[in-house]
Amino acid sequence: MIGRSLVTLDDLSTGQIQELLDKAHYIDGHRGEVADSCKGRLLATLFYEPSTRTRLSFETAMLRLGGQVIGFAGAQQSSVSKGESISDTVKTVSNYADIIAIRHPKEGAALVASRAAGVPVINAGDGGHMHPTQTLADLATITSRFGRLTGLTVGLCGDLTFGRTVHSLIETLCRFGGVNFVLISPEELKTPQYVIDCIKESPSCSYTEVKDLTQVIGDLDVLYMTRVQKERFFNEDDYLRLRDSYILDAGKLALAKRTMAVLHPLPRVNEIAVEVDADPRAAYFEQVRNGMLVRMALESSLLGVELPGYESVGAA
Ligand code: CP
Repeated sequence: MIGRSLVTLDDLSTGQIQELLDKAHYIDGHRGEVADSCKGRLLATLFYEPSTRTRLSFETAMLRLGGQVIGFAGAQQSSVSKGESISDTVKTVSNYADIIAIRHPKEGAALVASRAAGVPVINAGDGGHMHPTQTLADLATITSRFGRLTGLTVGLCGDLTFGRTVHSLIETLCRFGGVNFVLISPEELKTPQYVIDCIKESPSCSYTEVKDLTQVIGDLDVLYMTRVQKERFFNEDDYLRLRDSYILDAGKLALAKRTMAVLHPLPRVNEIAVEVDADPRAAYFEQVRNGMLVRMALESSLLGVELPGYESVGAA
C-alpha cells in the first residue's frame, strides 16, 4: 500500500481492506502509542465541495498521528477560482505535502488528480461516483456490530442513484461475498445498472429492489439510510417531490429486528427522526468515529509509517 493512491476500493485487495479495518481497531485501543507516528508528515486536504465529517476526520486523523495539515475548503479560496486545473493544483501541492485528500463534484476528478500528483492521493468523494473512505467507515461499523461482513441482509434505502457511498459499499461488500442486498428506493432513484451488474457478478450475493421500507425492514440486519442528494438534481421540483420518500422513525423501527444496525453516512436531513438517535440500533455516530479511525489507518499505511506495537499480517 505504501506510496499508492486510493481512488476506489478496487485499488486494494480484500486482504488490504481487512488489514485497514484491523489497524483502525488497533489504533482505537492504542491512541497514546500511535500519537507521534506521523510526526514530520503533512496532509493536504483539497475540498472543492462542502464537507464536515470527511475533511475534519482526515485532518483530525493526521493531527492525532502527530502530523500536520494544510488545505482549502471551497475552491473559491484557492487559485481554482482563477481557472487552475486539478492537475496543476495537485502537482503544485505535491511539492508541499506528503499525501493529499481530494473531494470534487465531478466523477473521475480523483483519478485525474492521482495521475498528476507526485504523492499519494485519496479520493474523499468524486461526484456521484465513489467515496471509498466512507465505505471503510461503514465496514468498520458493520464489523464492530456483527463481527463479520458476510452472511448479512443489508438494506440500502433512499437515493440509490446519486448516493456515492451506496455504490462504494455495495461494490466492496460484493467482493467479500455472502450478502443479500435489499435496495429500497423510489423508481426515479434506483441503483445504477453498473452497481446491479456488480451484485450479479458476485456468485454468493443476491438482491431485490422494492419501494416500501416497512414491507422489508423486519428482514434486515443492516439498514443503510441515505439523504436525497439535492446538489445532484437538475430539477428542484423533482428534489422536492422525492426528498421525504423515506423517514425512519420509532414506529418503523418497532418493526425491525432488535439487533438491526441503522447506518447513515450523514449529513441527514429528514431521513432519520431525531428520536431514533437514542435507540441502541442507531450506529451512525459510531460510524463517524470509525471514519476517523480508518483514515488514521489509511494515512499511516499509504505513508509507510509503522504504528508502535502493531503487527501487520502483510496482506498482499
Ligand atoms: N459522510 C460524508 O461524506 O459527510 P461529509 O459530506 O460531511 O463529509
